Amino acid sequence: MGKVISFINQKGGVGKTTMAFNTAFALAQNGKKVLAIDLDPQANLTLLFNAQNKHNLHHLLINSIKELKMLHVPMILSEILHYSTNDVVVDLIPGGQELSGFDLTVASINAPRQLVLKKFLEANELSRRYDYIIIDCPPTLGLLVVNALCASDGVIIPFKADDFSYKGLEHFYQVLADIEEMGIVTAPEIVLHVPNLVDLRRKQEQDDLEKIVKSIGEELGEGMVFSPFLNKAGLVKSLSGRKSVFDFKGQDFNELREKFIGIAEKIEEWSNVRQ
Ligand SMILES: Nc1ncnc2c1ncn2[C@@H]1O[C@H](COP(=O)(O)OP(=O)(O)OP(=O)(O)O)[C@@H](O)[C@H]1O
Ligand SMILES: [Mg+2]
Repeated sequence: MGKVISFINQKGGVGKTTMAFNTAFALAQNGKKVLAIDLDPQANLTLLFNAQNKHNLHHLLINSIKELKMLHVPMILSEILHYSTNDVVVDLIPGGQELSGFDLTVASINAPRQLVLKKFLEANELSRRYDYIIIDCPPTLGLLVVNALCASDGVIIPFKADDFSYKGLEHFYQVLADIEEMGIVTAPEIVLHVPNLVDLRRKQEQDDLEKIVKSIGEELGEGMVFSPFLNKAGLVKSLSGRKSVFDFKGQDFNELREKFIGIAEKIEEWSNVRQ
């Protein structure tokens, strides 16, 4: 069975989409079959894949809820599943702004509202069809993200090192504990934290990062924090070209590719002991 991994942080602009995109390609270039899912109404991941579509994940999710029959639109997964055209293939289920209405749309249903995504993945046997399903989450802890958590085996948490980050992380750990306590699903495991956009020339930032790494170590044990990503022009360039770092050559990109391969290796190690 494939593993479902969400890139998650309720804070905006910490690198969720950037990391989800490049990690998906790192896993795929290692021969894995990878599906990316854009759960964000901003649909930034969908833009990176050049995959805007009239219909998107929102319509698939609504179609999967029997009680909402009057809202169903005639379309199926294979019509919107996007196949990237690079040498390395990652499939994508696009997102779209309609996802911002998800909470309201499902407010009245009797079926468990936090399990819509999980049941959709199961109904389409997506964990059988893919080695990894990578979900890019919006910057909230709302119902959509709770759906991602309930559907995931693991989470990766990109974060920016500042004084407030650890408070946000603690809040997130509490949400994981709450999900576990609901007793309906097993909460996903934390696979890795990834410090991003770190400026090591700033002493304050170094100190903040050290403190956060120490706190994570105390809370969850060692080895849960990846080496920091600095502010890299190469990443900005690749994203504006809507390409992963695996599509570029040169020293700057070698380093970035190595880092995403490193994250993919961490994921594989984590996944191998959970077969
Ligand atoms: N290491 C990095 N170096 C330089 N720029 C980066 C780096 N990581 C991310 N960025 C840039 O920072 C911005 C935010 O990144 P990204 O969109 O991945 O964050 P996000 O957490 O997905 O944001 P949101 O919460 O809005 O979905 C983007 O413009 C991206 O190009
Ligand atoms: Mg994003």
